[in-house]
Amino acid sequence: MKALQIMKYGEIKESLSINEIEKPSLQPNDILVEVKAASLNPIDYKMVEGKLKDMISLDLPITIGFDVSGVVVEKSADVTNFEIGDEVYSRVPQEQMGTVAEFVTINSDLVAIKPKNISFEEAAGLPLIGLTAIQALESVGIKENDRILIHAGSGGVGSFAIQYAKAKGAIVYTTTSSKNVDWVKALGADRVIDYKTENYKDIANNLDIVFDTLGNEYTFDAFEIIKEGGKVTTIVGPPDEETATHMGMKDYKLPEKLSKLIEHKSAIYKLTWMQPDVDQLNIITKMIEDADIKTVVDLIYSLEDGIDAYLYLATGRAQGKVIISLT
Ligand SMILES: NC(=O)c1ccc[n+]([C@@H]2O[C@H](COP(=O)([O-])OP(=O)(O)OC[C@H]3O[C@@H](n4cnc5c(N)ncnc54)[C@H](OP(=O)(O)O)[C@@H]3O)[C@@H](O)[C@H]2O)c1
Repeated sequence: MKALQIMKYGEIKESLSINEIEKPSLQPNDILVEVKAASLNPIDYKMVEGKLKDMISLDLPITIGFDVSGVVVEKSADVTNFEIGDEVYSRVPQEQMGTVAEFVTINSDLVAIKPKNISFEEAAGLPLIGLTAIQALESVGIKENDRILIHAGSGGVGSFAIQYAKAKGAIVYTTTSSKNVDWVKALGADRVIDYKTENYKDIANNLDIVFDTLGNEYTFDAFEIIKEGGKVTTIVGPPDEETATHMGMKDYKLPEKLSKLIEHKSAIYKLTWMQPDVDQLNIITKMIEDADIKTVVDLIYSLEDGIDAYLYLATGRAQGKVIISLT
């Protein structure tokens, strides 16, 4: 089968290659999915660039990608929850990464039936961003009437998070650049802040929650705009100590600057490191089928153009999801 593989760590263009490889074989509890679409996420190219080497060690060459939609074509004898022909989607676990390929095996406990009202391309774009947004927002107990700033509302995670927070009854501020203001507003945000012409700190302050999807100074500056006792939930900032322990980081200490900011505001600070979760995937399916959440697909590429797709995503300017279609 054809697969887009990471051959070495380095620049995207030099490190990825489309190869002809063996179809993966079924382990107990696995299904084999004929891939109809895969979606790309920043974690994929960060792995190629070697930025996550300390956390995720890769046995190279390895097929890239975590998000998939497709059709069940084989299953191991012990699988009872899926039939051949089922249309499914998943964020595959780390040890089964490799969705940018013609076939992928997946532990059937981590697979859900694809929402019926959307295409394979739209469905492939949902698992990783949807699970991340839900886990990050639920980790700080988002609730009705919370005032929240979601950074990068035009990104994959941000575009889902805006809609999830609105469905929870929150009052949503979000940041994006001028070209994206109109379509991000259409996702339901109450106030879209154009970071090219406005300073978000002047507009969104005394907040219950900041969702930090940008990192660096945005993580620290979040403490300026939360209220006393407010919450900062991040997917890119330093780990909080509890999460660091879960991630196996022994003797980890929060950076001193962050500790001081947390103490000063009596704040809650939480890093989410997304985990596959089939119950939450089923929640996503329901929200899509109930039209509480709309999908946002930016560009669709063929498998043959997969390297260009990653080069585009890595510009950091994608408007929603970048998809590889195999249909
Ligand atoms: N911890 C986890 O488990 C986890 C899970 C998923 C993602 N992540 C991380 O979270 C980050 C976001 O992921 P993603 O999939 O949403 O990325 P993405 O889709 O590639 O984000 C691209 C978007 O970011 C916006 N953006 C860039 N700089 C901005 C700024 N200064 N202010 C406002 N918007 C800005 C861009 O809009 P403009 O062109 O308008 O600037 C663009 O639409 C990535 O670093 C990713 O690795 C972590």
